[in-house]
Amino acid sequence: MKALFLAGGRGTRLKPLTDRLPKPMVPIMGKPLLERNMLKLKDCGIDEIVLSTCYKPQSIEEYFGDGSRHGLKMHYASEDIPLGTGGAIKNTESFFEDTFLIFNSDILSDIDYREMLRFHKTKSAAVTIAVTSVDNPSMYGVIEYDQQGYAVSFKEKPQPQEITSNCINAGVYVFEPEVLKEIPSGTVVSVEREVFPMLLHKGYKIAVYKGCSYWMDIGTPEKYLQVHTDILAGKCKIPEIDFSSQGVYHGQNASIHGTAKVLGPVYMGDNVEIGAYASIGPGTVIGSNTRIDMGSRVVGSVVWDNVTVGSGAALYNTIVVSDCHVEKNDTYYNTVAI
Ligand code: GDD
Ligand code: MG
Repeated sequence: MKALFLAGGRGTRLKPLTDRLPKPMVPIMGKPLLERNMLKLKDCGIDEIVLSTCYKPQSIEEYFGDGSRHGLKMHYASEDIPLGTGGAIKNTESFFEDTFLIFNSDILSDIDYREMLRFHKTKSAAVTIAVTSVDNPSMYGVIEYDQQGYAVSFKEKPQPQEITSNCINAGVYVFEPEVLKEIPSGTVVSVEREVFPMLLHKGYKIAVYKGCSYWMDIGTPEKYLQVHTDILAGKCKIPEIDFSSQGVYHGQNASIHGTAKVLGPVYMGDNVEIGAYASIGPGTVIGSNTRIDMGSRVVGSVVWDNVTVGSGAALYNTIVVSDCHVEKNDTYYNTVAI
């Protein structure tokens, strides 16, 4: 079986994290989000992946190459101009002859894809959409469904008065290839606003799958921080570390001064240096090759790779992007340092 990742969006709401990186490449504890999602698929036995790219495609292609480093077979379909989610799916039509999976690339969830595929078959659906519940659906696609679990209406980014349900499109689909012929080619098309309503209108069955207990769209810096808080709290599981039983994780060659305090949950990558009297955590991620100097304080923050934090600096609920230098004695609250 093959899977398609829609990875061409500009990630505007995630700026400035996406100034130098496309959204799917933002790091989640040492690995790009896209890599985490692809490895999860591989664990389900799906190892052939099509990546639909547009914004900064070279950084994705350079990282994954032909996929062999990850034990995957990768294909790329890059757009010169963004075709929209539906247009991007249509643009990859030639890769798919059989049932396949589609993913938005900015999601982290515990959806069991094998289970979702089984569900899709039992519903004899043309498309199955994973759904989840959120408190405020206005930034998402609201889906209404009937008692048999088939979608009856779609409302993308509804106005407050249009919100009829908290059930939203979770950005994971199973598609039968026959529906691809219904999408117009060579033009900008939205799968959410145009293709799904059109398929319903034509009588195709679209099933909804309610199988996730953890779900997050990493669409804004606040949500990016929240995902890390959730992983560190053990609410969102990642394969290498179980934070519900372990408070502090560090990679290779950590150098933590004897007078420094590390209060878990904390994740540190490789070659991290923590200076004297520095205080790290709780709820903090320090990327590889990053140095936190004497007396600095880092709380509730995510610091990427190759960063130096000068002595006496303080970071609270802050994201620091790679290669950044935080000046000594600077203080940052609830922000992104670039
Ligand atoms: N190739 C390509 N071309 N990919 C695209 C394009 C495009 O023109 N536009 C968006 N994408 C990719 C993005 O990179 C992302 O992975 C995915 O399609 C969804 O785009 P977003 O920009 O993240 O959409 P959204 O978050 O506003 O809404 C979507 O996701 C929600 C769940 O997080 C919709 O599918 C909503 O219905 C859904 O609830
Ligand atoms: Mg999104």
